Amino acid sequence: EKGGFETFMAKEIHEQPQAVADTLRGRIDETGQIVLDEVRMSDQDFRDIDKVFIVACGTSYHAGLVTKYAIEHWTRIPCEVELASEFRYRDPVLDRSTLVVVISQSGETMDTLMALRHAKDQKARVLAISNTVGSTIPRESDAVLYTRAGIEVAVASTKAFLTQLAACYLVGLHLAQVRGIKYADEVSAILDELVAAPGKIAKVIENLEPVREMARASAGKDRVLFIGRHVGYPVALEGALKLKELAYLHAEGFAAGELKHGPISLIEDGTPVVAIVPSPRGRSLLHDKMISNIQEVKARGAKVIAICEEGDAITASHADFVIETPASPTLLAPLLTTVPLQEFAIELATALGRDIDQPRNLAKSVTVE
Ligand code: F6R
Repeated sequence: EKGGFETFMAKEIHEQPQAVADTLRGRIDETGQIVLDEVRMSDQDFRDIDKVFIVACGTSYHAGLVTKYAIEHWTRIPCEVELASEFRYRDPVLDRSTLVVVISQSGETMDTLMALRHAKDQKARVLAISNTVGSTIPRESDAVLYTRAGIEVAVASTKAFLTQLAACYLVGLHLAQVRGIKYADEVSAILDELVAAPGKIAKVIENLEPVREMARASAGKDRVLFIGRHVGYPVALEGALKLKELAYLHAEGFAAGELKHGPISLIEDGTPVVAIVPSPRGRSLLHDKMISNIQEVKARGAKVIAICEEGDAITASHADFVIETPASPTLLAPLLTTVPLQEFAIELATALGRDIDQPRNLAKSVTVE
């Protein structure tokens, strides 16, 4: 049932183009409007939203972090992202005009469910993104958009994450559409790019051998650091989480600009640093800053593995190793840049003899608080 792969996780990484395509299918109607599944909210309810909270745990939380950049940019609605286990206990400011987006692959995560109930008690509207039809979280929400990743067997989430991103982008674009679009051209261009994403993800998957080599070369190290900026920052967090889960290794993701405020002291001769580099096009300021961060860590002895856009010669001239991903709008790039990090974690953990599909101490669905 692993379809010729060594592990379910490897199989699920390869299923990502299909999973993302399935999640997008039928959700964009002939007029280019985004269609949600079970909506117990009117368009007017969506128009009345003046604040968005995204609440989730673990990998799903990382999908939420990416979404914040997209929602604020496309809709200009303030958006906060919070861990479900923290959200509920700190008395967040919520009311009828707050949209709380809960993201849960299983739909049964207790921390997320309790956060949802808290939000509903405060009269907030709740929209769920879940992979499990009929599970508790979507049942209790006002609106639902299902991801269509299919069953994810490996404990570490891969295809569920990419489909969460796809669904979250749709929610952001839906919000932009019902509220009247300031960026109509941009939204339709983004929709075209979303539809093109599965093909690009497939290209990334075809080119994973260099990632495997770098992972094997990193297997003897005490720690691996991941750095990113903008949406590359949550991707860095996700890359580090995958490696912690699978390899039982100290891995940490940082906002690259934050390194100099402390974490750069972790770097010693040979420390692998995986840098998620933004596109050199458009927002080149961000790219310049990332190159400076690469120089900072290299000056302290780091071995830099850069995940960058194809043809990015500047990054290639500074990094020790380069993994190229197809060009993409900045906000959608996590659909591509996450994939090499998933493979990196598998390969490094395999080199250390770990159980890839069933890491120690972890459960697929966490139904205790
Ligand atoms: C990491 C992972 C976990 C889950 C988290 C939330 O690979 O799988 O961090 O993402 O436990 O689970 P769901 O999305 O089911 O609420």
